[in-house]
Amino acid sequence: MSKLKNLISEGAGKINPVSVDEYVGIGGFTALKKAAEMTPEAVIDEVKKAKLLGRGGAAFPAGDKWAHLLRSKGTPNKYIVCNADEGEAGTFKDKLILGKLPLRLLEGITIAGFVFKAKAGYIYIRGEYRKINKQILSKAIENAKAAGFLGKNILGKGFDFDIHIVSGAGAYVCGENSALLNSTEGKVGRPRIKPPRLADVGLFLQPTLVNNVESLANIPAIVNMGGDAYLKMGHPGSGGTKLICLSGHAQNKGVYEVPLGGVTLREAIYDPELGGGIAGGKKLKFFHLGGQSGPIGGPDQLDTVYSYDDLWKARLGVGSGAIVVMDESVSILDYLKGVTEFFLHESCGKCIPCREGNKQLYKLLLKLSTPGGADADDLATLRRLVRTMTQASFCGLGQTAAAALDTAWKLFKAEFEANVKPSAARAA
Ligand SMILES: Cc1cc2nc3c(=O)[nH]c(=O)nc-3n(C[C@H](O)[C@H](O)[C@H](O)COP(=O)(O)O)c2cc1C
Ligand code: SF4
Repeated sequence: MSKLKNLISEGAGKINPVSVDEYVGIGGFTALKKAAEMTPEAVIDEVKKAKLLGRGGAAFPAGDKWAHLLRSKGTPNKYIVCNADEGEAGTFKDKLILGKLPLRLLEGITIAGFVFKAKAGYIYIRGEYRKINKQILSKAIENAKAAGFLGKNILGKGFDFDIHIVSGAGAYVCGENSALLNSTEGKVGRPRIKPPRLADVGLFLQPTLVNNVESLANIPAIVNMGGDAYLKMGHPGSGGTKLICLSGHAQNKGVYEVPLGGVTLREAIYDPELGGGIAGGKKLKFFHLGGQSGPIGGPDQLDTVYSYDDLWKARLGVGSGAIVVMDESVSILDYLKGVTEFFLHESCGKCIPCREGNKQLYKLLLKLSTPGGADADDLATLRRLVRTMTQASFCGLGQTAAAALDTAWKLFKAEFEANVKPSAARAA
């Protein structure tokens, strides 16, 4: 039996992405019509029952976030913001929705608009998706407006709601939700201190919902089928499906939709319908889950079920859905140098543990890669730095920058120690 599902990817590559008629032909906008007849509480109840965990990486329960925003009474001007920054390396699943099914995303955002009687919606899209932004998303918005699903007096319900597109400029940190709001406001894209939560003080200091593209694209399915049925499609702790992105040395690179809890990592990587094994018939050395900020796992963990709960128990994680597969030819230290270089480049510089920590990590990795270049004290410093960065960085970027290194250390200790000479102090 096929392990693939097409709950939110249904129609991708089959319908004209900007045609409202074709989207309606596959059941599009039925959920919006249904939600428009429901109370906000009833919609949120379905999202809660669905146990939809945020698909942007942090896995925050969407129902709780929505309920918080509904309670937030500070001002009547609420905003819906879709995080389409998709900056995690190895992650290209939001691109599938943005480029092939933008109307499903617009429907999800508009349902949120209805629920919160929001003033407006924003899609913050990464600058590199320029073509999708200009040729597809903008056109989809225009067509949805012309068909009465967006804009003035939506569905004749007297509700006005528009969606604006904001283009990022290529900074990874702007995917962090508060930095994203600063950037949307035209400020420098640096994270804000939290609390206050964005559901209380968000865009233009108003209560704001920030959800990932994939999270919002799931909303129509949840409204249509009901939270209970959606939950059953996935894992008891996290309903529905997940778009996974296979890349690196996987034979079949690409985006696949699988039910949460429906496949193991082994199946995701080796099943002929999914990753298809390792290119060139080589052996797997490790896999990197959830983007650069995620954990690294080894062949011994391949039988872990791909669900949030199971991966957490194995000290792994779904994160963004990326599965970067690396074969036996790859040096773990070289790989980690690449990861650390990325964070060094992307650190916004606001706080010391991240700004300086990434520099020091990179230097230590260089030393560890040079025969006789490091001593035992360097290894101890590396371990201390990982802890400090994880615990003391201001935002998620610095807090997770060393996650790959931390998990790889446990798997490949011998490679870390291969070039280490005894320290003079200890040898004495
Ligand atoms: C450095 C950093 C980068 C992030 N990049 C993204 C991103 O590109 N897309 C995304 O949806 N979430 C990203 N996030 C997570 C967001 O801060 C936030 O949790 C998410 O947009 C919430 O949506 P969700 O609950 O639907 O997942 C990032 C977080 C950090 C710390
Ligand atoms: S951890 Fe600190 S320096 Fe790094 S991106 Fe966040 S705020 Fe900026």
